[in-house]
Amino acid sequence: MNGVHGMSSVLRWPAEAIWEAVVPHLPGFTVEVLPEIDSTNTELMRRARAGQFEPVLLVAERQTAGRGRLGREWVSDPAAGLAARRGVSSLTFSLGLPLAPRDWSGLSLAVGLSVVESLHPDLALKWPNDVWLHDRKLAGILIETANGSDTPGRRYAVVGIGINLQSCPAEGLRTLPASLDELLPGLDAPQTLLRLAAPLVQAIQRFESRGFAPLQTRFNARDALGGVAVTLSDGTAGTAQGVDACGALRVQTDQGLKVITSAEVSVRPLSPPRCDGL
Ligand code: BTN
Repeated sequence: MNGVHGMSSVLRWPAEAIWEAVVPHLPGFTVEVLPEIDSTNTELMRRARAGQFEPVLLVAERQTAGRGRLGREWVSDPAAGLAARRGVSSLTFSLGLPLAPRDWSGLSLAVGLSVVESLHPDLALKWPNDVWLHDRKLAGILIETANGSDTPGRRYAVVGIGINLQSCPAEGLRTLPASLDELLPGLDAPQTLLRLAAPLVQAIQRFESRGFAPLQTRFNARDALGGVAVTLSDGTAGTAQGVDACGALRVQTDQGLKVITSAEVSVRPLSPPRCDGL
């Protein structure tokens, strides 16, 4: 038996192709597609707490309780009624795998970089790990970890990614969220996943062995905040100046250069994006 489990009745997911591309580099890897679940991150964290630490790509066609960073809800389908009738309008999945990097800082940046580089040159990154198209959010990343084994430093990482593929006009939405079909019309959820999955695993494994430093220049080339006036959640104002070799955001303020390492600090451009999240 190969490592492909569960399938949608409607969409054709390239689970076999992804499995074949990934398993030589990640033994024990499986791909699982579910028609519906509360949240792919919540599910993999539940499994980890129950002692399941195998590498897995868990895809959900629909999440009923998607979660975002900073305790926010993740609504992957901003126009649920309309979009549901037209088919899947977002791609939601989580990759779970044991990891033991020397330093965890910069993992979420490495993940975001892999996503934008796999998808389109016009996509940018808003520190620490939102994907933007021009001034609107297109995708978000939520990384969580659980105790994974007795090996010191090794944890089970759950890398959750939500990407808006299609936006449908809906009541109450003044501006449509950014969606991938603006850049890549016709690319559906299964094809998008196929583009992302194997490079993502490879990027995470490279990060595990080499850390963030080799990615600093590439991240800064995609940095949506570079040179932009920002405010931090503590009210400090400044100008963002890219990330350092650890992935920390550099912000020039009146009090000097601030280096922000905590993803718990939210950073906002002074003129906010037209649509703040999906
Ligand atoms: C954010 O921008 O705040 C992060 C959003 C992350 C959403 C993805 S969708 C797949 C995975 N499951 C979740 O519940 N959240 C992540």
